[in-house]
Amino acid sequence: MSEYSTITTRTTHRVTTIELNRPEALNALNRQLMEEVLSAARAAETDEDVGAVLLTGSAKAFAAGADITEMAAHSSTSVRQADIFSGWDQLAQLRIPIVAAVRGYALGGGCELAMIADVIIAGESAQFGQPEITLGIIPGIGGTQRLARTVGKATAMDMVLTGRRITAAEAETMGLVSRVVADDDVVTTATDVAEQIAHHPGQAVRLGKEAVLAAFNTPLEQGLHYERRLFETLFDTEDQAEGMAAFTQKRRAEFRHR
Ligand code: CAA
Repeated sequence: MSEYSTITTRTTHRVTTIELNRPEALNALNRQLMEEVLSAARAAETDEDVGAVLLTGSAKAFAAGADITEMAAHSSTSVRQADIFSGWDQLAQLRIPIVAAVRGYALGGGCELAMIADVIIAGESAQFGQPEITLGIIPGIGGTQRLARTVGKATAMDMVLTGRRITAAEAETMGLVSRVVADDDVVTTATDVAEQIAHHPGQAVRLGKEAVLAAFNTPLEQGLHYERRLFETLFDTEDQAEGMAAFTQKRRAEFRHR
């Protein structure tokens, strides 16, 4: 029996798939679900036979937001003391790449969770939005910050202040998602992407993720410097030696993810 009750997990071809599984609440992100996602992702991060995480929901909802029933009774003090979203911050700190496969609603915390992922594959039915304003709050899992950095001030303000939902096509145009495919193809496409990432040299993948994320936090000159140091680090790895040797010897590389 699975150790989890709000998610299901499986690992195949170097990819751990985490499927949110609270259909009765459209995968609303309660504390238990947050802890289970973090636990499963951490297990993937430390398993040398896993190179990527695939995060998905149901056909109707990736996730309809943080669990409103769980939040409703909080005061300002209690919500701060409980630090209710700290697990999502920890998920964002993981080094393993995360691919999100989004169908249906990705609202509030659901949109924010998708933005914590590194690659977002969206189905045509996907709807992204930050409706917190309609509840008398604002996004709390990074929505204002990641949206502003990803889609720019004008669109971020529009979404955060009006709460309006955007379609998958709009999300693709504004650079919020990596690709849009037919709903029936979302999980297959996202799995292909995750497997492709997971079979590339592991250290290069993790430093590639780290370098791109650094662009969100650093001025250009500092970011370029940081990228160069990470680039140089990879020349001490077995997979760099193997990758370049295989190229010059015109054979297929056998990566050991070291
Ligand atoms: N929290 C808790 N329960 C939720 C939920 C949420 N975020 N979203 C949906 N549910 C529950 C509903 O209460 C309902 O439960 P019952 O059957 O027991 O009544 C069940 O899921 C199905 O939902 P609906 O009947 O409402 O389904 P629908 O198809 O008519 O509507 C929806 C779908 C438009 C997504 C609607 O459910 C909705 O608006 N949900 C809330 C969206 C939202 O406001 N999200 C932001 C939450 S705050 C947040 O996320 C803060 C942050 O930054 C982290």
